[in-house]
Amino acid sequence: MKKFIVLNLLYFLGVLTFASADSVYDNFVQCFAGAKIPDAQISSIVYSPNNASFAKVLESYIRNRRFNVSTTPKPSIIVTPTAASHVSAAVLCAKKLGVQLKIRSGGHDYEGISYVSAATFVVLDMFNFRSIDVNMTDETAWVQTGAMLGEVYYRIWQKSKVHGYPAGVCPTVGVGGHISGAGYGNLLRKYGLTVDHVVDAQIVDANGRVLNRQTMGEDLFWAIRGGGGASFAVILSYQIKLVPVPPTVTVFRIEKAYDENATDAVFQYQQIVDKMDNDLFIRVLLQPITKNKKRSVRATFIGLFLGDSSRLLPITDSQFPILGLKKSDCQEMPWINSVLFWGNFDNKTSPKALLSRTPDSVNFLKRKSDYVKTPISKSGLESLFAKMVEIGKVGLVFNSYGGRMSEIPASETPFPHRAGNLYKIQYSVNWSEEGEAADKNYMDQIRQLFSFMAPFVSSNPRQAYLNYRDLDIGTTDNGKNSYSEGQVYGLKYFKGNFDRLVKIKTAVDPDNVFRNEQSIPTLNFQGRRRSR
Ligand SMILES: Cc1cc2nc3c(=O)[nH]c(=O)nc-3n(C[C@H](O)[C@H](O)[C@H](O)COP(=O)(O)OP(=O)(O)OC[C@H]3O[C@@H](n4cnc5c(N)ncnc54)[C@H](O)[C@@H]3O)c2cc1C
Ligand SMILES: *[C@@H]1O[C@H](CO)[C@@H](O)[C@H](O)[C@H]1NC(C)=O
Ligand SMILES: *[C@@H]1O[C@H](CO)[C@@H](O)[C@H](O)[C@H]1NC(C)=O
Ligand SMILES: *[C@@H]1O[C@H](CO)[C@@H](O)[C@H](O)[C@H]1NC(C)=O
Ligand SMILES: *[C@@H]1O[C@H](CO)[C@@H](O)[C@H](O)[C@H]1NC(C)=O
Ligand SMILES: *[C@@H]1O[C@H](CO)[C@@H](O)[C@H](O)[C@H]1NC(C)=O
Ligand SMILES: *[C@@H]1O[C@H](CO)[C@@H](O)[C@H](O)[C@H]1NC(C)=O
Repeated sequence: MKKFIVLNLLYFLGVLTFASADSVYDNFVQCFAGAKIPDAQISSIVYSPNNASFAKVLESYIRNRRFNVSTTPKPSIIVTPTAASHVSAAVLCAKKLGVQLKIRSGGHDYEGISYVSAATFVVLDMFNFRSIDVNMTDETAWVQTGAMLGEVYYRIWQKSKVHGYPAGVCPTVGVGGHISGAGYGNLLRKYGLTVDHVVDAQIVDANGRVLNRQTMGEDLFWAIRGGGGASFAVILSYQIKLVPVPPTVTVFRIEKAYDENATDAVFQYQQIVDKMDNDLFIRVLLQPITKNKKRSVRATFIGLFLGDSSRLLPITDSQFPILGLKKSDCQEMPWINSVLFWGNFDNKTSPKALLSRTPDSVNFLKRKSDYVKTPISKSGLESLFAKMVEIGKVGLVFNSYGGRMSEIPASETPFPHRAGNLYKIQYSVNWSEEGEAADKNYMDQIRQLFSFMAPFVSSNPRQAYLNYRDLDIGTTDNGKNSYSEGQVYGLKYFKGNFDRLVKIKTAVDPDNVFRNEQSIPTLNFQGRRRSR
């Protein structure tokens, strides 16, 4: 009892005393010193808003201009650890001082929750943790979470031309958020998710301890493979198992305008998408366009085939004839060049481009997600295309499921969207106009299309992909950690796996040190006093 009163007192003192950025800085510096971090290290890893490079460090990994405006709440300090001891100290000091800790790796969170908060907060920025050690003896790699996917692909390629890793297609996405949130890319139908190939991890838990798979236990290891790292721990690194890729793969990109049978092609895609050869992955982009001065919709089919075109063509001819894929549409290349192709680099680009840590441009953007379990009828597709034209700028991306995804049980990892899904939809809108009016316009547009799609997609609950973070589907008051609020988005992201995540969260972080707008809530056991 006494302990709780003291903790509560400390907490309230914290709120009163440490509210200004200056005092958060002073208190963290003092707390770090108490944790035996040498002064020289403290002064090179802790940034207050008064430090000249504070803004630059903060902006370096902002990937959505919506959160790069003057009204965006800023952290009180940024900590840029270079050693596990710095991460432990940051966790323990945030806990002690009652300040929220936001963990950032690649900064690609679509809602910016790795570096924005309504509460007083500190950013733990992992960009110095970016080593990648590929071991071809056991075909694994230890990858620190501040590394980016492009760097991972490049380092694997340096060691082997016939190994790859099934993860996202955008090379600047960070390992920390991507893997802890499940991760997928164009090897999904052949090999499943990114987390289906994680064999070990190193973390710092809520008590500041550095743990690996064996010492954290299988429950926590399960949770950090798709449940979102930021509810459970700071992930320092993952050990990933590489997968084989053939020496030659084939890619294609075929556009079909509305008057080129786009409706029929998308309709047929839905019939075969989950059943086609596991070596084939096809993404469809649906975009509103203006053609011959008329507004309409265009479908673009982007494919990756793990083999050469002579094996691919008979497959598409028999299963997906409307696509009309021809030998001349096919480009054959080593796997690493297909990574560049999918990353929209032109075909003369050297793999070295994958080492670039900055994207070409950053826009204002908003994303949402859905899962489709039964094909949309032709008339349904027609109505969708008409709606897209009417709404304006929102595009859709379909990513084919089936294959290996249907073979892995829904409870294998926290990511529950396996068998029974034909494809996932990403809703996408980008804009470059500044100001609240533009924000409102485009946010309204994407919400309108999302609401129009309700009859065509999963329901009860309407499912969503954690890594396509969407605060529209529910949030929790950061500090309160309410179970009933958490359940709203939690069931959409995790379905039947939500309860196991809650139990694990309650066991490993009962004080809710690792909290955010959509974190996993703790259960309120009888006898435990909630202090916040
Ligand atoms: C351009 C673009 C392309 C994308 N393409 C794909 C794709 O092909 N496939 C796909 O699956 N997803 C894709 N995504 C989504 C992407 O996987 C998620 O946004 C992912 O969470 C980003 O990870 P990050 O480390 O870059 O982000 P961050 O913003 O740094 O982090 C995202 C979340 O993870 C937490 N987190 C980050 N690092 C750690 C850590 N070390 N320990 C604990 N928690 C941590 C953060 O606190 C935050 O909650 C894409 C996103 C963008 C912007
Ligand atoms: C931030 O500013 C303080 C005070 O000038 C300085 O001691 C510290 O080294 C700076 N921190 C960094 C990371 O540059
Ligand atoms: C963020 O804003 C700053 C200052 O206006 C600008 O220099 C920087 O390029 C912007 N970065 C992003 C990613 O929008
Ligand atoms: C690579 O993996 C093998 C087999 O697990 C192991 O014996 C070896 O020590 C590893 N090499 C390095 C450099 O870690
Ligand atoms: C559209 O389909 C029809 C019949 O299925 C076919 O004759 C026609 O050539 C196709 N048009 C295009 C542009 O592919
Ligand atoms: C590279 O792209 C150009 C233009 O799109 C194309 O003509 C050429 O055949 C491509 N080269 C290879 C090797 O695929
Ligand atoms: C938004 O921009 C991204 C990245 O450039 C692009 O991949 C996507 O297709 C765009 N979305 C729309 C609807 O134009």
